[in-house]
Amino acid sequence: MIVNETLKIIKQRRSIRSYKDEQVKEEELQAVLEAGLYAPNAGDQAWHFTVIQNRGLLDRLNLAAKETAKQLDIEHLRELGNNEKFNCLYGAPTLIIVSGNEHTPVPLEADCAAATQNLLLAAESIGLGSCWIFFVMLAFYSPQGSEWRKELKIPDGYKPYYSAVLGYKKAATVNVPDRKPNLITYIR
Ligand SMILES: Cc1cc2nc3c(=O)[nH]c(=O)nc-3n(C[C@H](O)[C@H](O)[C@H](O)COP(=O)(O)O)c2cc1C
Repeated sequence: MIVNETLKIIKQRRSIRSYKDEQVKEEELQAVLEAGLYAPNAGDQAWHFTVIQNRGLLDRLNLAAKETAKQLDIEHLRELGNNEKFNCLYGAPTLIIVSGNEHTPVPLEADCAAATQNLLLAAESIGLGSCWIFFVMLAFYSPQGSEWRKELKIPDGYKPYYSAVLGYKKAATVNVPDRKPNLITYIR
């Protein structure tokens, strides 16, 4: 079995759902963002990253996403929306939203997903916790969605696709669930 630092980080990374209040250091944030910018992309870097580190704004986004969740047909999301204790950002001090230019000839979902994964792996590699967060994107699907885009300075023509939170982990270790068997077919 080959083992190196990159493979170790990939296997070690887990979604972290409990964070310290302390903000991440600027140089750590910059390292994570740079890793995002180096992701593979079909749209010639037609993405945009929005870094939110304002606690009041993060709290408002959490509430807006939960309000939208309350109206959904999906029971699991509705329950989370109605759960007063649930914070969809898990108290993390930094949220990065990855948006893609809607006017590129190729769909930007894959580019933005690749960038988001790079953010998570880079975070793990420098000891930060991270979690890919779909839930907060619900804020953009509320009637106030376009106001949110404006307030968050998402460039015109860009669609927010994915997001990730970053911060210092409250607990050091998280169990890695076993990988499911039989997910690979070899044709040689
Ligand atoms: C597209 C996408 C959206 C996700 N959205 C959320 C989310 O809103 N909240 C959350 O806690 N985790 C979210 N996750 C994290 C997954 O729950 C997590 O990756 C999965 O359970 C595997 O666990 P691991 O990341 O620890 O390996 C999301 C992951 C992906 C890929």
